[in-house]
Amino acid sequence: MASHIIDALVKLPFADKAYDIATEFMTEHRGWFVIIFVLPFSLLFDIFFQIRAAIVMRFYSAPELHNERVKNIQNQIKAHLESGSTKRLCTARGGWQSISPGNRDYKTSGASHQISVNLYDILTLDEENMTVRVEPMVNMGQLSHYLTPLGYTIPVLPEMDDLTVGGLMMGVGIECSSHKYGLFNDTVVELELVLSDGSCVSCSKTKNRELFDACPWSYGTLGMLTAVTIKVMKSKPFVRLEYFPCYDKKKGAALFQKHSEEQMADFVESLAYSQHEQVVMTGTYVDASEVVYAEKNSIGLWYKPWFFKHVQSKLLANKDEGSTVEYIPLRDYFHRHTKAIFWELEQIIPVGNHPVFRFLLGWAVPPKVSFLKLTQTQKIKELYETQHVIQDMLVPMSKLGEALDVFKKQYDLYPLWICPYKAYDYTDAEAPHRCFLRKPEGTKKPFLEGEKLRSEMYVDIGAYGIPQAVLDKKPFDAVATGRKVEEYVAKVKGFQMLYADSYMTKDEFRSMFDHVHYDKMKSKYDARGAFPEVYAKVCKKGQALWGKGGEKVAEEGKKKK
Ligand SMILES: Cc1cc2nc3c(=O)[nH]c(=O)nc-3n(C[C@H](O)[C@H](O)[C@H](O)COP(=O)(O)OP(=O)(O)OC[C@H]3O[C@@H](n4cnc5c(N)ncnc54)[C@H](O)[C@@H]3O)c2cc1C
Ligand SMILES: *[C@@H]1O[C@H](CO)[C@@H](O)[C@H](O)[C@H]1NC(C)=O
Ligand SMILES: *[C@@H]1O[C@H](CO)[C@@H](O)[C@H](O)[C@H]1NC(C)=O
Repeated sequence: MASHIIDALVKLPFADKAYDIATEFMTEHRGWFVIIFVLPFSLLFDIFFQIRAAIVMRFYSAPELHNERVKNIQNQIKAHLESGSTKRLCTARGGWQSISPGNRDYKTSGASHQISVNLYDILTLDEENMTVRVEPMVNMGQLSHYLTPLGYTIPVLPEMDDLTVGGLMMGVGIECSSHKYGLFNDTVVELELVLSDGSCVSCSKTKNRELFDACPWSYGTLGMLTAVTIKVMKSKPFVRLEYFPCYDKKKGAALFQKHSEEQMADFVESLAYSQHEQVVMTGTYVDASEVVYAEKNSIGLWYKPWFFKHVQSKLLANKDEGSTVEYIPLRDYFHRHTKAIFWELEQIIPVGNHPVFRFLLGWAVPPKVSFLKLTQTQKIKELYETQHVIQDMLVPMSKLGEALDVFKKQYDLYPLWICPYKAYDYTDAEAPHRCFLRKPEGTKKPFLEGEKLRSEMYVDIGAYGIPQAVLDKKPFDAVATGRKVEEYVAKVKGFQMLYADSYMTKDEFRSMFDHVHYDKMKSKYDARGAFPEVYAKVCKKGQALWGKGGEKVAEEGKKKK
């Protein structure tokens, strides 16, 4: 819609000149543009959605409307089937609306047939079975606003307010509670999908299990997700957060590994500020009665410093390696990285963490990532693709130290986000397949006493920002460095998260990710190839193919088998 308005404006007489002036302003003075235009729009949008969500929750019986909305999606898919169109299906949600950085050319190039999936509501909270059933466009902010006051949370609640259940389920979702609960999909008990023949099915560990197992990492290529049932657990109103500043890379990595594997803390996270300096953090749920009020810190308040700056201050203040403790309200903790979009906002609004800005306008940030993407000029898009890195890589925990060195060598950018992930092995006689994530080599025995499942600990390293080479005005080749990091990750049997830019070839991609079960499910549930293959959606090289007839990609996949 907004992009149509922009397109229409561009076609007006004198628009060329005005457009040049406008884009120059938007590029050169990005920070001011964001403050003056993007922030107010973001706020209005949020207010609109909050009011809408409140009204829907209060006055409408959401489940009944849900079935109608699902019918509508079924009808759209049946119409596509009957039309005989060879265009592949994807959601009509604009590429700019997604938090993921890629621009998704297939959404605008006319290569795809788009299905509108307007599913924004929380459906039912089942306190007996401890689950919440939601529609896929429900986002993390909406869910934590709803569950926290009731004393509940979902076990893996990724940090940014705008991340959606659908994206986290069909893509990937990780949080610093993932050392206990695994990925977002590990906490999901049931899915409802509309398949390419227009039928609506639900699947779980006990029903249509083969389909259920194939959904994580499938990136919307098996069907349209229409509802997700997620486990909920009791939460407490505060988190006791302990900060451990580390000044030696070996000690830092060892401390992080120890806390992740012991599982004494509910949350384990680390931020690295240089090759040697990092702050390891462990968090545990506490009740209000346990809070030491002198150490309470409501980090979510509008005038509070950005969280990554706050954490860095522990490093500067505490050269003696002693730990410090703070008590943080739960929602403030969950969304600690929302306000500064991890640390991406620093480049967009450089004055954003200045005390004066925070006191006057701190309540208005962050701008919505979707509006930031929508208002990117071509030049900014190019800068993001060539001079900026957004990557998350999962590597076995034992490789943490080595991987940090590789990141230093290739990207040299800080802070880095470090987050644990415990990969449980759910395979059994009935479902011996692993899907997408290969069976880790180290899974010989359960991790902790009394645990039934075998598992292996991984760690996610996230690099978001501008590499040092670019800051130093030296040459930086995003593709070449990206490929070097991918090569390393493949070598240590790790995985690249697919929301970001991936430069792998199809063969590399298929050797990093196990396609055996996926391919089977793809031919069983999407025999007519209405959806593309994962590779065609997420990898740069695959996306290029899509524009010139996505058919080819699927054909190649079939030949391989
Ligand atoms: C600044 C930033 C911070 C981030 N922080 C985190 C973080 O803390 N933790 C984390 O885990 N990840 C994080 N991510 C990455 C994030 O996990 C991915 O972007 C994720 O896929 C969710 O994004 P989204 O909700 O925008 O989904 P999208 O990117 O829009 O969707 C991801 C995939 O899911 C599919 N999909 C979505 N809805 C449906 C549906 N209804 N039916 C079928 N398929 C569907 C889409 O086709 C798409 O391929 C971050 C990314 C950025 C840029
Ligand atoms: C809990 O789950 C059981 C079994 O799936 C179901 O029969 C029951 O209705 C559920 N409880 C509620 C309150 O929905
Ligand atoms: C979640 O996804 C991962 C990766 O595909 C998979 O190994 C795991 O078994 C899934 N969890 C559940 C509960 O199905």
